[in-house]
Amino acid sequence: MTLDIDAPAPSAPACADDGVWLACIACGSTFAPFEDVRYTCDDCDGLLEVRYENPPTFEEFGSGASTDGPDRGVWRYREGLPFESGVTLPEGDTPLHEVPRLEADVGVSTLRIKHEGMNPTGSFKDRGMTVGVRVAEELGVDALACASTGNTSAALAAYGGRADLETLVLLPSGKVAAGKIAQASLHGARILEVDGNFDACLDIVQELAARGEAYLLNSLNPFRLEGQKTIGFEILEAFHADHGTFPDRIVLPVGNAGNTAALYKAFRELVQSGALAVEDVPKLTGVQAAGAAPMVEAIENGADSIRRWEDVETRATAIRIGNPVNAPKALPGIRNTDGTAVAVADEEITDAQRALANEGVGVEPASAASVAGLRKLRREGVVDDDEDVVCLTTGHLLKDPDAAYEAGNDPEPVANDVDAVLELL
Ligand code: F0G
Repeated sequence: MTLDIDAPAPSAPACADDGVWLACIACGSTFAPFEDVRYTCDDCDGLLEVRYENPPTFEEFGSGASTDGPDRGVWRYREGLPFESGVTLPEGDTPLHEVPRLEADVGVSTLRIKHEGMNPTGSFKDRGMTVGVRVAEELGVDALACASTGNTSAALAAYGGRADLETLVLLPSGKVAAGKIAQASLHGARILEVDGNFDACLDIVQELAARGEAYLLNSLNPFRLEGQKTIGFEILEAFHADHGTFPDRIVLPVGNAGNTAALYKAFRELVQSGALAVEDVPKLTGVQAAGAAPMVEAIENGADSIRRWEDVETRATAIRIGNPVNAPKALPGIRNTDGTAVAVADEEITDAQRALANEGVGVEPASAASVAGLRKLRREGVVDDDEDVVCLTTGHLLKDPDAAYEAGNDPEPVANDVDAVLELL
């Protein structure tokens, strides 16, 4: 099986370009990486994955001369990416926060928070876009498009704008947080609000892409995940530098399951290069909102594929997704790392958002799902008290100001007078 955790580094097929090619995860067909626009397998429509002849070790990252790219963040991992540099703002190099009070409260040996909200547009999507837009330039396209619950649209608009490409985004009407629409709008995207959910938007934009209207930059695009896998590299390097070991578990929110797939790919490539032992691979643990949890359902039922949920609802609008397209990559990621998946209620998400905020870490609701899920798994005894855990928080608090306002303290009106203020204290 090509997605096995201990699959050896593959040898390059004739179509490879400088040791890089595309492979179908279902039937194994291989394709030249940059000759044609292609999102899925020509032969069986399976998901494609970028493959490398020589995946690098930790020491090899950033060892070669940087051309014109930054020597930090995503592009420091250029030896493990399809290009050496790309359209950059720059992205990556996000903090791995200590949260001592939350760590004690959850009751694990170590809890660190990888805060992806600290990227240029405030979410992890920037890591995928810097690589995806670089590929778009290579392919010579002039317009980019995505469906989005908000963050992808903000990143696409910013990176597409920087590359001077047209950008089109399809959003589920009334279900995208204000900060994200503001970003897509000001960065210059054409915004179409669809009377349907995210999955319907993705169906439409896939059809547009198939007809050649624009280059698709959803996480179905395998190059997006190349940028996002650097989250895994950063977590392992930073955790190891501080603790001398790798984390036992990484807990992350799941929507389209792109990050789950990308982190698993990071681990497999490190195993292939000999940089990581199979027994040191962290357990990938996915968290979904109870109202949008097809991945959790598939993991609980031991199913090989997900059932598309037509009706989805959660206050964590970023992960309001019923048909996670990366499930065929993410389900093996969770299973082969001995991880699990769990669903949490919206109230648990809000509680976790407050707990993070009390430690100074401001995140949007979907991000807090990771911490809410960890708490639940601790309560249920699935996660042990001696585990070293990293929770991924995917987007910044200001992405969804309405949710923050609802979860936080209410401002109190007071007269323009010291005594009146003192009376309230
Ligand atoms: N967290 C946030 C803040 C997100 O915006 C998303 C996805 C996820 C988690 C889920 O990540 O899809 O890799 O499992 N947002 C997409 C968007 C769908 O359009 O912005 P995933």
